[in-house]
Amino acid sequence: MTAPRIPRHIAIIMDGNGRWAAARGLPRAMGHRQGMEALKRTLKAVRERGVEILTIYAFSAENWSRPEAEISDLMELLRLYIRAELAELHRDGVRLRFIGDHARLPQDVQKLMQDAAELTRDNVTGTLVIALSYGGRQEIVQAAQKLATQGAEITEESFASALYTADLPDPDLLIRTSGEMRLSNFLLWQTAYTEFVFTETLWPDFAAKDLDAAINKYQQRERRYGKLGQLA
Ligand code: IPE
Ligand code: IPE
Ligand code: MG
Repeated sequence: MTAPRIPRHIAIIMDGNGRWAAARGLPRAMGHRQGMEALKRTLKAVRERGVEILTIYAFSAENWSRPEAEISDLMELLRLYIRAELAELHRDGVRLRFIGDHARLPQDVQKLMQDAAELTRDNVTGTLVIALSYGGRQEIVQAAQKLATQGAEITEESFASALYTADLPDPDLLIRTSGEMRLSNFLLWQTAYTEFVFTETLWPDFAAKDLDAAINKYQQRERRYGKLGQLA
């Protein structure tokens, strides 16, 4: 059956900030700054369309290999985003969750994240999951280590519960901007049956019409999960 419904969970690989800036002769940091505006727009549009969960890839485990100055620009934007948006997100009933290996993040950023997650933990109208210092392989390895240490039985269910995304449903739709067609180590386990939509739009240009186009493509897809389709 095709899916003429709104995805419950959308994941986005927000890519192309650097190219957006380069095309305008601007420093990469300006691309990230506009990327933050695109995130605010997109979260609003996602909520207006009735999507319950948005997971965004903000900083990958591999992004630690970028120049220090760019890393610190990104950390600064993250501080800005949390400080500026937290009160409104909380008022709107949005729960904030952070996934990734946070030990490498600056102490004050860790504290901001913990406080934001704590403040919003009982909110139920929507969830924003921010993947930060996140790598899918690292997540899978730490889940295996956790289960081994506990001497727990290893099943698909126990494994899923040991991931950072425990108790979140898998994404229905994954969008990647900027024309790249790869996962770059994002949600390797969780995307087993996710529908993928790739768009040439660079993340800072991403707007409600791009979100609608992606949801529209999703609605044309037949999610078969290995079974026979409608036309078989
Ligand atoms: C995505 O934009 C943001 C992060 C990875 C943090 P990029 O910075 O990867 O932009 P491009 O891919 O170089 O254009
Ligand atoms: C993926 O983008 C990570 C984020 C969007 C945060 P990258 O720009 O880092 O990915 P690659 O290097 O092109 O695969
Ligand atoms: Mg990129």
